[in-house]
Order: sequence, then structure tokens, then C-alpha cells
Amino acid sequence: MKSVAGLLIAVLICISSFTLAPPGDEVYRKYCAGCHGGQLQGGAATALIKPTWKFGNDRASILHTIRTGIPKTEMIKWQGVIPDADIQAVTDYILKAQHSPQIVKKEKKPLLVKTKLYSLRIQELITRGITDPYGIEFVNAHRALITGKRGELYWVLDGKLDTHKITGVPETYAYDNFGGLMDLALDPDYAKTGWIYLAYSHNTVHSKDKKTPGMTRIVRGKIKNYQWQDEQVLFQVPDSLQVGGGTRWGCRFLIDKQGYLYFTIGDMDHAAYAQDLAKPAGKVYRIHRDGSIPTDNPFYGQTDRLQAIYTWGNRNAQGIAQHPVTGLIYETEHGPQGGDELNLLKSGANYGWPAITYGIGYDGSIISNETSHEGMEQPVTYWTPSIAVSAIEFVKGPLFLKWKNNLLVTALKYQEVRRLVINKDKVTEQEILLKGYGRVRDVKIGPDGAIYVITNSPDALLRITPR
Ligand code: HEC
Repeated sequence: MKSVAGLLIAVLICISSFTLAPPGDEVYRKYCAGCHGGQLQGGAATALIKPTWKFGNDRASILHTIRTGIPKTEMIKWQGVIPDADIQAVTDYILKAQHSPQIVKKEKKPLLVKTKLYSLRIQELITRGITDPYGIEFVNAHRALITGKRGELYWVLDGKLDTHKITGVPETYAYDNFGGLMDLALDPDYAKTGWIYLAYSHNTVHSKDKKTPGMTRIVRGKIKNYQWQDEQVLFQVPDSLQVGGGTRWGCRFLIDKQGYLYFTIGDMDHAAYAQDLAKPAGKVYRIHRDGSIPTDNPFYGQTDRLQAIYTWGNRNAQGIAQHPVTGLIYETEHGPQGGDELNLLKSGANYGWPAITYGIGYDGSIISNETSHEGMEQPVTYWTPSIAVSAIEFVKGPLFLKWKNNLLVTALKYQEVRRLVINKDKVTEQEILLKGYGRVRDVKIGPDGAIYVITNSPDALLRITPR
């Protein structure tokens, strides 16, 4: 009797351990695809089907890489995070995919999605011909303009890519996956003035070398006959304030209802600069649209400070939006590992990076023991683990009345569009609307009231309407 029970237990353990180890492709999709791409084709991180491997491509090397992680990168130590059986399963999946790429299934995402208040219809407007799209703005009901990180501008006409190339776009300074042509904004009087604002990584010597000092630069210009022209530089720091090896350039725009132009600059991988008002990195800026400094800026007239600064202690702001009714301005910024933030911006306020943070270093190191400090702002909410929070936009217009004034929040790593119900400095509800359609770079409500979403890996423009 005893031995029968023992056998039964052994069998049960056997079955349960067998069913506990999920297939490698499932592990991959759940934990790895966000960075390495749904088809192992690469995205935010390197491809995992390829001939040359940086850290070795035999089973033992790949296992080691996954178990121990890669210091100073987003590739964390997975040992202790997921069971070792999962690590082995995903390793075997990656190995098998090298010779049998057909085992990697192309995932078809549903084009109808149910959410709490709406069934959503998702249209893939553009899936080809745009590379690393970053920002989108509507010029009118028919035309939109998209920036591509590799230094391209694309016209969209009635939801289709206009294949005629725009020439003369400013040269950007980019290396690896960092930097490039990022956000754009349109003048509130665009129909009359034609001004288009661009934010991009720049260095004065036009070098591609990673160590070359550079800094985010803001220009405006016009597109006439597919030609970028009449360019004016609105913000550029002196060479002495440029930074080498920078990886977080910020570059998100907002033009508020009064017509002020806001833009962001990340900490450029020099966290301490975010606490130094004489250094450009780690700030949100506010200028007039001709580049002049508003006299009511918080540090106006203070010669030892950059007078365009609006807020400081911001790690890498990738989203900024104004509430349609209250006029309050919200900003999202990437934390390190954990600690992505949604902030309510106040003129002159310090958001604390890196003195206070809810995150830790990519290598697990402690950045600060403090999450709060007198004189430093607390986030409205934060995300740990990091979703890699990106662009934000308030819902307005006639199509989504039940979501009116809700905040759409996007995510790169988590590949999401979320909906937040916000009451001043409180988030009272949070719902994931979309997941897995790609790394979401930008979100805008179009003139037709539809939600337009820009994704990377795959590069696409989506249109979302209630069914
Ligand atoms: C948050 C982003 C992120 C996630 C999630 C992630 N990785 Fe990575 N991974 C990276 C980065 C960054 C590198 C380093 C790339 C480089 O140095 O070029 C890397 C490198 C690797 C390498 C080494 C590649 C080589 O060329 O030698 C392997 C193998 C790998 N990852 C497997 C995985 C697996 C398996 C998972 C899921 C369990 C995973 N990664 C999840 C970001 C990520």
C-alpha cells in the first residue's frame, strides 16, 4: 500500500514537473519578445536568429548569458526571476530556431479587441515602407507627417504612405540604436505659417563616433515640394555643454494651449547632470516658438542656469501632454530598472532623478536608498517593473466619449496602450487596452477622433476606432 502511494506521488510529481515547464516559445513570448522581437528578429535588443553571437551560441554559452545576464545592459540576470526549467526551455527554442526558423510562428494579432467600455477595431494602415517611426502629427483631415528615427520624414495621405521622399531633412547624430530624428510638432498656425518643429540628437562635428559630444537640438522649418527648408535653430547648447556617449536624448514635444513649446532632454547617461541647473541633461524645457525664452520661466534671468529649463531631475521623458480641461501638464519618463514615472509638471520643480527613484540600476545596483525627499516631487504614479513608458495623449473628440479626458499611456518594452483615469494628481483607474502589437512609440487622437498609434518592431501605423 505504502509503495503504491509512493509510486502515485512519484507519478504525480513527474506529471506536474512535466506540465510546469512551459514550452520554450511560450517563455520566449512572455519574457523575451518585448526586446528581442516577436520572431527573434531583434528590436530594442539584438536579434536571436543570426550567424554571429556576441556571447557565444553553443547551448552552455546561451544558458550562461540568460542565467547571469549582461552587466550594464537591459539584459537582466534571469536566474531567480524565472524557473531554471524555463531558462532551459527557452534556450532550446532559440537553438532550434537557428536551423529551423519555421518553428517561429508569425503571430497574427486580433483586429478586434474587447475593452471595458468599447470593442475596438484595429486597422493596420501602414506596415511597410517606414523605418523606426517615432512621432506622428496631423496637418489636416487628410495628411499626417511621421518622423523616422533614421532621419526620415514621411507624408501619410488618407491613411496611406506617400512614397515620394522628403529631402533636406537635418542630419542627425546616431549610433547603435541610440539617438536620431525623434519627435515633431506642428505650429498651432500651421495652415498659415507652415512651421514644423523637430527634435533630434546632434553634434557639431557630424561624427558618428559614440564618444563624440552631442546634445538634443531643436529646430523648425517648412516642407515645400517635399523639401525641408527655411530651417531655424531654436535650441542648441554651446559645445562646452555637449556630452559624449549619451544614450537618453528625451526629444518629446508639447505645444500647450497658450502656444508655449515644451521639449525634453534625457539625462544622456549622466544621471548627476539632471540635478545641475547649469547642465542641459535631464530636464523639461519651455520656450517661445521662435526660440526666445519666456520671461516667466522659473530660472529666467539667472545667468548660472539654463533659462529655458521648466523642470529638472527628469531621467528621460518620452511623453508629455496637456489635460484638455484643467490645462495641467503631465509627463512620463523612463526609470532605470523599475521606477517609470508619470509626473504632474510644475514650473521650476525638481522631480528627483537620481537623488530619489523607485528604480534600481540595470545591473541590480542601488541608485538611491530614498524614494522621497523634501523639495523633490513625487510621481502621480510609477511602474515597477518598468513598462518602458513612452508617449501619452489625452482622449478628446467625438469617437470615444466614454473615455473623454482619459490619458492614453503607451509602452515600448511591454508593448501596450493603457488608459488611465486621472483626477489631478491621482490615478483612479488603469486599463490595458492593447498589448503585443509592437513597441508603442507614439499615440495621437486624429482629426477624425480615431486613435493613431505608431509602433516599432514591427514598424507600423495603426488606427483604432470603436466597433
Ligand atoms: C529589457 C530587454 C531585454 C529582455 C526582456 C531580454 N533581453 Fe536578452 N538582451 C538584451 C540586451 C540589451 C542584450 C545585449 C545586446 C548586445 O549587447 O548587443 C541582450 C542579449 C541577449 C543574448 C546574447 C546575444 C548574443 O549576441 O550573444 C541572449 C542569448 C539573450 N539576450 C536572451 C534573452 C532571453 C532568452 C530573454 C528572455 C528570457 C531575454 N534575452 C530578455 C535585452 C533584453
